[in-house]
Amino acid sequence: MTVASKKRLVVKGGTVVNPGSVAAADVLIVDGVVTEVGPGLDGDEVLDAAGCHVSSGFVDLHTHLREPGREEAETIETGSRAAAIGGYTAVVAMPNTDPAQDSVMVVEFVREQGRRAGLVDVHPAGCITVGRAGAALAPYAALAGAGVRLFTDDGNGVQDPLLMRRALEYARDLGVTLAQHCEVARLTEGAVMHEGSCCSNMGVPGWPSVAEELMLHRDIELVRLTGAPMHFLHLSTAGSVELVRRAKADGLPVTAEVAPHHLALDHDLLAGWDPVFKVNPPLRTREDIAALKAGIADGTIDAVATDHAPHAAHTKELPLDQAPPGMLGLETALGVLVTAVNPDPRRLCELMSWNPARIAGISDTHGRPVAPGEPANIAVWNAAEVWTVSRDALASRSTNTPYHGMELRGRNIHTIHNGRTVVKNGKALA
Ligand code: DOR
Repeated sequence: MTVASKKRLVVKGGTVVNPGSVAAADVLIVDGVVTEVGPGLDGDEVLDAAGCHVSSGFVDLHTHLREPGREEAETIETGSRAAAIGGYTAVVAMPNTDPAQDSVMVVEFVREQGRRAGLVDVHPAGCITVGRAGAALAPYAALAGAGVRLFTDDGNGVQDPLLMRRALEYARDLGVTLAQHCEVARLTEGAVMHEGSCCSNMGVPGWPSVAEELMLHRDIELVRLTGAPMHFLHLSTAGSVELVRRAKADGLPVTAEVAPHHLALDHDLLAGWDPVFKVNPPLRTREDIAALKAGIADGTIDAVATDHAPHAAHTKELPLDQAPPGMLGLETALGVLVTAVNPDPRRLCELMSWNPARIAGISDTHGRPVAPGEPANIAVWNAAEVWTVSRDALASRSTNTPYHGMELRGRNIHTIHNGRTVVKNGKALA
């Protein structure tokens, strides 16, 4: 009796990036698992990685997939495809869906739709409060029992400090992590953009940096009180970087992410009144951008997370004060990070894969070394490739990219999810 031989997938001619080494090697994958890393490997399917880095697939801590509820902007399938093209093998799906991800039924629906799409692992975040309304805690024990590891009301910050304290105590005892959208809502009512020179010139209401920093400061103190770990979403100001830097120096269990657009774009872009540049938190000043980059350089910032926020064209075409905040990010994150910051390959992997996998609680399957015995969730990316973003060529169902027509350096080429090639030469295979 002959046993059918298993397909051998080889990634050939690339530079493998691992925490301990960056070295030229081929990678052999059989049956979803990396089986060999070394020179001269061959297989039945060969992916050309010449000039590319080969690393664990990227993990996005902050993706809005819009399903259920706003499928005209994105579905779990179209968002998964955009993610895979960007080099992601896992995404954390934000809970501001309709209905919100505050019940086992909804998170299981999201996970199942992710499985059906089969392009990346979709890990739904749970809500901190029921309906993200900020009044009553969501049923964490049931949600944690259903595999949820990260909880947030993203889109809203949790305003009530007592509720936040209880949420942290509850999360600590369950071993899950809360992620805060830092925004004191009273200070940002009606805000359209960053409160600064540009918004004054335009005569529109501004979103002051202190609205982010106050909540961040409050929650750092609640972490000190409760000992619960906490992740801070899309930080955007110089003051926030300094607060996190000090909290880490004090040994507090906090982590922080920044979004690519806050590293590359500043508030002066709003001067043309184009809602494609409207985002929450808003684009800030050049000094803020420099501080975020310094936070990346010294390790204060743990992750780059997209805040991929698709919006249907008819909503983004409304006047600036009425258009919803948010911009696409999954397909451009690598290029924006390389173009704006150019981290070395290992730091890039820390920011895009290794740290986010740990923060998301999925480091058993993602952000792993590219080494024998490890699950084959892999990105093959070229940090030198220069390409021009076209909103018409994106896989997302929406087109609200702020980078349309812009030249970026750095592009994902192939993505392997659970041992299967899902993106080849920049194109999704399914
Ligand atoms: O700009 C944003 N858009 N920031 C958020 O926090 C939410 C997001 C969305 O859901 O559109």
